[in-house]
Amino acid sequence: MSARSYSFTHAIMRAPSNSITHGLRAKDTGTPDIAQFAKDHAHYKNLLESTGAKVTSLPALEDYPDSVFVEDAALCLPQGAIIMRPGAPSRLGEATLMKPVLEQFYKNLPIIEAPVSEALATIEGGDILTTEREILVGRSARTNAVGIEALRDIVAPWGYKVREVITPPGVLHFKTDCSLLDENTILATKRLADSGCFAGYKIIHTAPGEEAAANAIRFNQLVLMPAGFPKTAQILAKAGYDVRQVGNTETAKIDGGMSCLSLRFSPPVMQANS
Ligand code: GLY
Repeated sequence: MSARSYSFTHAIMRAPSNSITHGLRAKDTGTPDIAQFAKDHAHYKNLLESTGAKVTSLPALEDYPDSVFVEDAALCLPQGAIIMRPGAPSRLGEATLMKPVLEQFYKNLPIIEAPVSEALATIEGGDILTTEREILVGRSARTNAVGIEALRDIVAPWGYKVREVITPPGVLHFKTDCSLLDENTILATKRLADSGCFAGYKIIHTAPGEEAAANAIRFNQLVLMPAGFPKTAQILAKAGYDVRQVGNTETAKIDGGMSCLSLRFSPPVMQANS
């Protein structure tokens, strides 16, 4: 297995803070239970480690209720780690704090800067789906065209093609509705796939009524998906994926899922020091 889009030697996670009860959410579906959140978080970490990856656990940040969602702070590619500029003002500091962490693994850390043009660039990792052939970035309430352009400028010299797509209205992030399963296959909700943005890929739809199962991750040999979506789990298992279900009830209360809980990467061999 050598696909760079889902083969990883490392991951970074951050412990949930007590302040997760104040995490951003589109609608109130209850207060997250911190103990259950932590239990599910530990299960997720164990699964990543079971593939042989080294997982760095960062301490909780009480000042940043959404900081458990480390994926939004950076995009890690083999050539470098790009520090994002979150569109949620309360999350801007999370990206700044991720830079010194990633400096342990990367020498090349370009930053999405604020004044790229007259408009401020914003971009969050949750809107970015890296496949074997391109980087899809969903324009959303958190990620704007200027942010996407700034990312394109950074990764073009590394040989990546960035394609701007649209995150469905009312959906937090592009990857809320899709996941990479392998080199050619995407798990997606019908509402997103019907936009045509995955033309040329094989698409597996989430089962009707199980749209929240779309935010899964392929991590080495495993597919981690939120528990509670048996039909989609069965579809994926039948398609040959090694599916592991992780409790997501508490994370979902603050609009989180599988992808946002980790930064997944393989640091450049010459630079890795851990
Ligand atoms: N609570 C996740 C986010 O809104 O960024």
